[in-house]
Amino acid sequence: MTQRTVPELIAVKRDGGALDEREIRRLIEGFTAGEVADYQMSALAMAIYLRGMSPKETAALTLAMRDSGRVVKLGGPERLYVDKHSTGGVGDKVSIALAPIVAACGVRVPMVSGRGLGHTGGTLDKLEAIPGFSVDMTVDAFVKQTDALGCALIGQTADIAPADKRLYALRDVTATVASIPLITASILSKKLAEGIGGLVLDVKVGRGAFMQTLDDARDLARSIVRVGRLANKRVTAILTAMDAPLGRTIGNALETHEAIELLHGRGPEDLAEVTYVLGAEMLRLAGLEASERAARARMEQAVHTGAARAKLAEIVAAQGGDARVVEEPDRLPRARARVVVKAPKAGYVHGIDALELGLTGVAMGAGRTRADQAVDPAVGIVLRAVRGERVKAGDPLAELHVEARAGTKPWAARVERAYTIRSTPPALGPLVLETIRK
Ligand code: URA
Repeated sequence: MTQRTVPELIAVKRDGGALDEREIRRLIEGFTAGEVADYQMSALAMAIYLRGMSPKETAALTLAMRDSGRVVKLGGPERLYVDKHSTGGVGDKVSIALAPIVAACGVRVPMVSGRGLGHTGGTLDKLEAIPGFSVDMTVDAFVKQTDALGCALIGQTADIAPADKRLYALRDVTATVASIPLITASILSKKLAEGIGGLVLDVKVGRGAFMQTLDDARDLARSIVRVGRLANKRVTAILTAMDAPLGRTIGNALETHEAIELLHGRGPEDLAEVTYVLGAEMLRLAGLEASERAARARMEQAVHTGAARAKLAEIVAAQGGDARVVEEPDRLPRARARVVVKAPKAGYVHGIDALELGLTGVAMGAGRTRADQAVDPAVGIVLRAVRGERVKAGDPLAELHVEARAGTKPWAARVERAYTIRSTPPALGPLVLETIRK
């Protein structure tokens, strides 16, 4: 039988049919080699977005994308290598605290992270707020550092899942990001290429997340856990709320500062909660602790003894950064001016719209609207009042960190509008919503 052409394969998906494993691999190999054009891949992405993919097709797409580059082989027992990934949120600086905490407990964390995407922040941009810190590394150096220090924090290299990097760029500009099979393949292809034995996925749910409903988040979580298992990896997905920003800061240096505070035992409660829940699961998957309680105690010990801070300092120094920021986070870049946003009336803070604050942060220069833009590490938003807190009219709700006060009025107005204040206290729901292991 003759092979179907690329337009024929796109038509199969467009009309709701299924592609087989060989056809998917041929498409991805052709795309990586430049033989399948960007416009063809964009059309295929839209067909997948509209028609979906079966679990078998999703698995085939993930593995073909993983194999589009190098699949890393790390030195120690595979079980010990566990990574964490978030589907993206606002104020989500968890990785910066979590990676050194669990690495100090004996997990090896080969972490390949991304940049800010849409209204959500990215770990790479936050790490680059540390003067001198480089997220670029060859795969060989990445392997060496992960085995020597227990952790390396890098960006996607040209060698790791290049098909994802290119497809992601197309999806970003063709309205095809929010597709469960495409997100599954995107996240897992690069994570499987890192050489991990296990993965803990933080699936964000709510207004500030890509998955806005619990049902969609659950479907995504199940899809990723299922495909991870087909690839012989232990994968746990933890669904966490992302209606309001996590912690009290939005913006790169501000968030890195807050993550470092957590390593000093001082961070905000919600950030600590998500960090410890995800970390406990990483220790469990690595086989280092059997219960969440024991895992938490071990992580808290790593924070209290300073072992987690020492680990972050080692990682920062190894990647060219100024390791003094770990003990003196005030050395991180700071914006020149502050603009206080005041409460228009008295009451309780019921909601803080994470999407709106994420978009305001982007408008202020903390994120990008085009892939080639630079971010300003120092600018951002500090939440002075968070959900459940009571404010009087005129009390500070938030503080904008800006380079100049001129022209900041529209941002201040957006931040004020993002707050919902009511006369009665809110009922606050749980932060950790569900854990999915199969
Ligand atoms: N994060 C990724 O890495 N890929 C997606 O498709 C969405 C979130």
